[in-house]
Amino acid sequence: MTRTALIAAMHEELAALLPAIEDARIERRGGREFWLGRLEGQEVVAVRSGIGKVAAAITATLLLDHYQAARVLFLGVAGGIGAGVQVGDVVVADALLQHDMDASPLFPRHEVPLTGLARFPADAAFSDRVARGAEAAVARHAEAAALLGHGTRVHRGLIVSGDRFVATAAESEALRLALPDALAVEMEGAAVAQACHAFGMPLAVVRSISDRADDDAHVDFGSFLTRVAGPLGLAIVQQALAPVAAAAGR
Ligand code: ADE
Repeated sequence: MTRTALIAAMHEELAALLPAIEDARIERRGGREFWLGRLEGQEVVAVRSGIGKVAAAITATLLLDHYQAARVLFLGVAGGIGAGVQVGDVVVADALLQHDMDASPLFPRHEVPLTGLARFPADAAFSDRVARGAEAAVARHAEAAALLGHGTRVHRGLIVSGDRFVATAAESEALRLALPDALAVEMEGAAVAQACHAFGMPLAVVRSISDRADDDAHVDFGSFLTRVAGPLGLAIVQQALAPVAAAAGR
């Protein structure tokens, strides 16, 4: 049976998901706990990567080398930097880029040297499915809606990653200038995308927006992480994994 790998950076992002795994067994490798079992009747392996690109790349490589997954879903929170990407919205990546990669003038800014790529594509079919799951999940996520007081949207587009928590308006403006089509910023997705690219592994990345990567980012991030990120992440994964007819009927 097809096994889906689920990765998130932080404890809070997986807190609702891990207890929902049926017949869970844990294997420890490289300082990580890999949770194997079933979710929505599907085989899964779930792991917390830790924060940042190196931690994410180590985790993805271990996962891809040891757990025979057919596809990888990275989930968690991100800062919204695109116009109209609000706290509580969800962004599903079409492509991922390391915004702090710069080996110019040897290579174009943002290009990962010797890969020829700056933007690592997400798998289109799997991302479509995750986006449909996210639509269904946000439509039903009453707590998030009440907390935010506005409708939530699911966006598709570029997610950028770097080893910085972007927490000033000036820094997010600089990102917008350099990468005008970027919708969200986080610290792991593009590293996992590079690892999946090396292994030829289909990837989707889904991020709920915890903050606007501005001067209030650290406050918004904290409350969203503890109150919304876990249950919303579980709902998105359940909807994305459920057989199509079952998900539509929920
Ligand atoms: N993850 C969530 N919010 C973020 C931000 N503002 N910068 C980087 N990663 C984030």
